[in-house]
Amino acid sequence: MRHCKIAFLLLVFVLLNLVTITAQPKKEVKKIIAASYKLANKQLLELHKEVPKNLFPQTLNQDGTLKTNKSGWWTSGFFPGSLWYLYKNAKDAAIKQAALERTKLVEVEKLNVGDHDIGFKIMCSFGNQLRIIGDTSAIPVIITAAQSLTKRFSAAVGAIRSWGSITDNKNFLVIIDNMMNLELLFAATRFSGDSSYYKIAVSHADKTMANHYRNDGSSYHVIEYNPATGAVTKKRTQQGYGDESAWARGQAWGLYGYVVCYRETKDQRYLDQANKVAQFLLRHPNLPKDKIPYWDFNAPGIPNVLRDASAGAIIASGLLELSKSVNKATSAYYLKNAEDIIRSLSATPYRTVLGESHNFLLKHSVGHLTANSEVDVPLSYADYYYLEATKRYIDYKKK
Ligand code: GLY
Repeated sequence: MRHCKIAFLLLVFVLLNLVTITAQPKKEVKKIIAASYKLANKQLLELHKEVPKNLFPQTLNQDGTLKTNKSGWWTSGFFPGSLWYLYKNAKDAAIKQAALERTKLVEVEKLNVGDHDIGFKIMCSFGNQLRIIGDTSAIPVIITAAQSLTKRFSAAVGAIRSWGSITDNKNFLVIIDNMMNLELLFAATRFSGDSSYYKIAVSHADKTMANHYRNDGSSYHVIEYNPATGAVTKKRTQQGYGDESAWARGQAWGLYGYVVCYRETKDQRYLDQANKVAQFLLRHPNLPKDKIPYWDFNAPGIPNVLRDASAGAIIASGLLELSKSVNKATSAYYLKNAEDIIRSLSATPYRTVLGESHNFLLKHSVGHLTANSEVDVPLSYADYYYLEATKRYIDYKKK
């Protein structure tokens, strides 16, 4: 009996060590990533040459032609951000020049109070310019942008209005994606010493946790509030399959958003929320073997429905940061899942080959399926979060 007990304890010890040993990036995956970066350096420079200087690459049209947009569209920060990640890796002067040019073009957005996307735009462009080359001229841009975003905050609701005019007194819409704009506010408090940005970010994160989330850790896409009283009037979707479904990218934004909130506040509630979302995603019976989610976890027709590579990339990036804040076994589990996603995205059918798809990096994302917009296409943000996730994987230090 005593021998059995010792053997059992030994087995537990060996298993725990195995988990710990596997909790580090693999050389072979780093090689795959290095090959992706080599390709990406060429591809994104080509894309930079193809896109007019005052525009940004967004996606492909259904006929395969390139679709661009102006800085006002929510995705403008992603292309400059991708260039910054490439520059960090390759230190190539032409890439730096391209990143500086494209980032500069986003600056006008610091005054845009028309929607909540200012955080995406400014942090992916100027935020990375600051982080990657230490250019402090980005700081006043970040602070001004944060001031603009606070104009969309309502004390009555306790959240930042995502869509619609700030003067709309009938409806106040908040979407889960908005969690991604809070990083801008945390940064502004750090740089200015003014805690009001931080307080707004915390209020928004708390409101979202209370009203967007279901008990199983999945999130609604849109919450409608009464602007005067702050009461919830409706819970619904815009881009997902249905009001009660789990739209894949929305789940990804929420995961990433609460990881950032935990990084910035060290509030255990945000870490718990991020873990809850991660568990929902990774244990979901509809998560495919290659870990690239279907566009909606409840889409009818699974498994014969489209994937969303962008959601996969965002989830991988979020998991890699989250895995630094959890116990060893969970950390290994998150790292392994992020690695699986990176492996999948770095191969057929997701990653392009040189010159394919107008030099975007990833195929098979979905923007807004129910509106028949951006269906099974490359998207600039899929590329951005893929480069971010792979960079995080390369830089990953064993816990
Ligand atoms: N924030 C818009 C989207 O995820 O499609």
